[in-house]
Amino acid sequence: MSQQTKSIKRIGVLTGGGDCPGLNAVIRAVTKTAIYRHDIEVVGILNGYEGLICNDVRLLDARDTSGILTRGGTILGSNNRCSPLHYPDGTNDDGSIRYVDATDKCMATLEAHRIDALIVIGGDGTMSCTAPLVEAGVPCVGVPKTIDNDIHGCELSFGFTTAMTTGTLSLDRLHSTADSHHRVMVCELMGRNAGWLTLSAGIASGSDVILLPEIPFDFDVIAAYLDERMASPAGFAIIACAEGAHARGEGPTVARIVDGSAEPERLGGVGQRVANAIEHHCGFETRTTVLGHVQRGGTPVAADRVLATRFGVAAVDHLIEGRHDRMVVWSDGTINDIGILDAADKQRLVPIDHPLIDAARAVRTCFGDGG
Ligand code: F6P
Repeated sequence: MSQQTKSIKRIGVLTGGGDCPGLNAVIRAVTKTAIYRHDIEVVGILNGYEGLICNDVRLLDARDTSGILTRGGTILGSNNRCSPLHYPDGTNDDGSIRYVDATDKCMATLEAHRIDALIVIGGDGTMSCTAPLVEAGVPCVGVPKTIDNDIHGCELSFGFTTAMTTGTLSLDRLHSTADSHHRVMVCELMGRNAGWLTLSAGIASGSDVILLPEIPFDFDVIAAYLDERMASPAGFAIIACAEGAHARGEGPTVARIVDGSAEPERLGGVGQRVANAIEHHCGFETRTTVLGHVQRGGTPVAADRVLATRFGVAAVDHLIEGRHDRMVVWSDGTINDIGILDAADKQRLVPIDHPLIDAARAVRTCFGDGG
């Protein structure tokens, strides 16, 4: 055992950002690995950084994590509006929210509960929030989570496969009405500015048109494709549309602004816009389905449980072996790690020459770009 091993007696674990299938599987793996393999204690920090700032924590024992492998969400709670360097604390004279640096409060919570090191499970925003803690000397290890699969340096995040499966099954189900009523069915999927989820679910469901943020579309191209498709013996069409998809020369459709969030813009609404344009210009009866948070819910599929478990085990091992301030990632077919702050402000988008796009084009899927 290294010197660092002896100094870590108790670790804290938190989940930040939006929930994602597999978070509980990571919490379980972290807790059981810490207790059984390394004989150290685990403190669960509630509701992301909010719990660290407001001293809201609870000791986790192995029994607390029993039975949670299959549960969606996070038993610790999460928060995507709270950062140690930008914590809302009252209002300014003009009524606007006053933000303060709450790093001292985080350090006080760590000290009060004798927490020697932290495992943070979250997206790029959650990783960025470790900066002041890393600077203050707190050993941190990150575990990437997202259904969007867009974290820099990580080729596969847990939660993605579950969301892709939910998206695929939903698109499959839209075929019944599309076929029976000879309609165009537009389905809007999540993913922010990354098209991984829509691309994968679109291919898996055999969608006719796939619209991605990375490939701006020309409506005329979609209309020409639909004219042909609707006149074919099939007589219906399925469109998988990413929430971040947009027409050439336009930006994404913003549904709302979430004050205090690291990324305040929430996307949504492009599916209905595309459907309106189809009805107006092509005359085909069209309906829109927005999958929304259905994609983030439910039990993780087996592959996500396996990946989440491996990430949780690796994160604890990293801390104990002194490999601090790293984020565990999946790359080149195995678990690797990168600097915990390396993923900040970066996003892994779909390259337009990606083999998945090539495969979809080969089976005559339309991306709205005439390619
Ligand atoms: O990043 C995960 C994600 O589900 C995105 O796909 C989506 O754009 C966003 O979070 C929605 O965030 P919220 O739950 O805050 O509305």
